Amino acid sequence: MNSDLNLVPLNSSILHSGYQHPVTRAWANQGRNISKSMFMYPIFITDDDDAEVSLDSMPGQKRWGVNKLEGFLGPLVKKGLSSVILFGVPLKTPKDAQGTLADDPNGPVIQAIKVLRKAFPSLYIATDVCLCEYTSHGHCGILHEDGTINNQPSVERLAEVAVSYAKAGAHCVAPSDMMDGRIRAIKKGLIDAGFGNKVTLMAYSAKFASSLYGPFRDAVDSAPSFGDRRCYQLPPTARGLARRAIVRDASEGADVIMVKPTLPYLDIVAEARDLAPDHPLACYQVSGEFAMIHAGAKAGVYELRRMAEESVQSMVRAGATIILSYFTPEFLDWLDEPT
Ligand code: PBG
Ligand code: ZN
Repeated sequence: MNSDLNLVPLNSSILHSGYQHPVTRAWANQGRNISKSMFMYPIFITDDDDAEVSLDSMPGQKRWGVNKLEGFLGPLVKKGLSSVILFGVPLKTPKDAQGTLADDPNGPVIQAIKVLRKAFPSLYIATDVCLCEYTSHGHCGILHEDGTINNQPSVERLAEVAVSYAKAGAHCVAPSDMMDGRIRAIKKGLIDAGFGNKVTLMAYSAKFASSLYGPFRDAVDSAPSFGDRRCYQLPPTARGLARRAIVRDASEGADVIMVKPTLPYLDIVAEARDLAPDHPLACYQVSGEFAMIHAGAKAGVYELRRMAEESVQSMVRAGATIILSYFTPEFLDWLDEPT
């Protein structure tokens, strides 16, 4: 009978012929290669100028003092590092309820911007803008007496901090706080201060209340002293809120849209690609994702490089054009070596 025939693929059923060779596999990426310039490297800067402190929960990552930055980043810039995002970690000076330390002119972020601008003229410098690393209570905004977010002073303070970073020389400010209306407030602040056409505004738009920020909060000492962040970070189930936040931030003046974390939220990355097709789209592969990939490799589940590559390939496939990742130094090597 023709049972045999049913097992023979029709001409149009044959796909292997389109990817059995390395060259045809390269063509199958639909023009979306991973490249060095997509990577933005998150860096922790502390207020001890000579610090170089390894972080237990994030293999290979350190808290750096400003005096160590040139030596640390020089070799990476030579390998093609094109951008960094700075996080301040003040440990010596007491914090207050307003996050005064966020834009302390002698604080680690403002000092680092100046040092890096001078040492590496071609390096693109973004700064995370938030209050949680700088407030005594560890929340991302300014609070009412009862501990709830006081939105208006929060966005005003965030705009002030963003403008201070712009004045110090940051190319990009990236608010991660999730207060309502902060993109509009920051954009207006930048325009009024004369940076409207000079400084990029990258919005952490779809930022979810995730379990994957744990290693980061250890690294920067920013865990909230009470409660959690679920009143301002998005519920993991909330696709609708994520869509609304993306559209809102684009309309308020964001130059770049971000989704964070990435791997459990690739559907949202694809949504963002559709909702803001004319914006660059950033994905933050957060500390917990990084630690998870390391832990799996250590347990023998997969090879580190293969899994790290697969994770970034999935982000690019979903529509990302910028990848914030602690694997950036590795990718600068890997992208020079044959796979
Ligand atoms: C602070 C901030 C967080 C991250 C970036 N900015 C943590 C948080 O919201 O608790 C997470 C980064 C990471 O986990 O790598 N607003
Ligand atoms: Zn925060």
